[in-house]
Amino acid sequence: MKMRGIILAVAALLYTPLLPAQSGDDGNTDSPELPFLDLRRVELISGDAAAGREKTQICANCHGPDGIAVVTEFPNLAGLSADYMYWQLIRYKRGVNPSPMTPLVADLSEQDMRDLSVYYASLPVPSAVPAGDEEPAGDLTPALLHKGKQLYLAGDPARGIPACQGCHGADARGPAAAHRILPGGQAPYAAYPALRGQHYGYLQTKLAGYRDGDMDDSTSGFVMTGVAETLDDDAIQAVAGWLSSLQIGASPTPTSPPIR
Ligand code: HEC
Ligand code: HEC
Repeated sequence: MKMRGIILAVAALLYTPLLPAQSGDDGNTDSPELPFLDLRRVELISGDAAAGREKTQICANCHGPDGIAVVTEFPNLAGLSADYMYWQLIRYKRGVNPSPMTPLVADLSEQDMRDLSVYYASLPVPSAVPAGDEEPAGDLTPALLHKGKQLYLAGDPARGIPACQGCHGADARGPAAAHRILPGGQAPYAAYPALRGQHYGYLQTKLAGYRDGDMDDSTSGFVMTGVAETLDDDAIQAVAGWLSSLQIGASPTPTSPPIR
């Protein structure tokens, strides 16, 4: 699993600029023959935020009326890009790896997924994420936060841990190149997520899930699986702790470096 994750991650990265896109009718790169979702090149999506808002009754029970999750095991949607959310919904709909989201997307149409993603991405991002009751604030010592920040910004070359900021942005708001469009009209980094201000519990569970191979159903998943395999429990705790300590709206940040 470990070797395969690394090989797939390297392949996904290396071939991004080389392979021709496999375009479907709606311009996405999903191919029914592939057992995984090919997100190396996607077109930026559009949708109707007002229509999306009308479709959030069920979603709001868990992701909150304002896109801030009601419990810390669920992800916040405020602050995520429409493209990242849309491709996660598509991934859930393919149902290759089970998720609590799988049954919830069954009845969503293509248009619903676009509208919902555009709606959540349009929400004003609050300046602080309210800490949930379960937030283990006591764990987040200054030493742990410092270690998490180091890992995020610089990685740990001796242990093979890459700097997270290279793909998630120096300020963890997503890659600087998220909206870069290639001459063919496609955006290689549009489905790379922001991480800023996600809850500690969600981040820890999700990173352990990548490490365990639970997310190996898309080219993006291969990339992140290869990264997570370099992280031990302490590294996960540190980087999850630091990311969750960042206020999502507050802006302090150097501009993100360009991606490769
Ligand atoms: C019962 C609670 C629940 C409901 C209702 C729910 N979600 Fe989720 N959602 C989750 C959980 C838990 C996850 C994390 C799943 C995982 O990691 O596999 C998630 C993940 C997501 C993600 C990916 C976020 C990320 O950071 O990767 C998106 C986008 C999303 N949900 C959108 C929606 C939309 C749109 C609706 C309404 C149609 C909805 N959710 C309804 C619990 C819920
Ligand atoms: C080479 C690029 C790359 C690097 C480096 C990288 N990531 Fe990722 N990461 C991704 C991609 C692509 C995804 C989306 C995966 C998917 O769609 O399943 C992702 C997803 C994630 C998610 C899930 C977010 C969500 O909302 O569910 C977390 C958490 C995460 N990365 C944390 C990290 C941390 C921590 C590091 C540094 C130790 C890191 N990443 C380094 C590319 C990268």
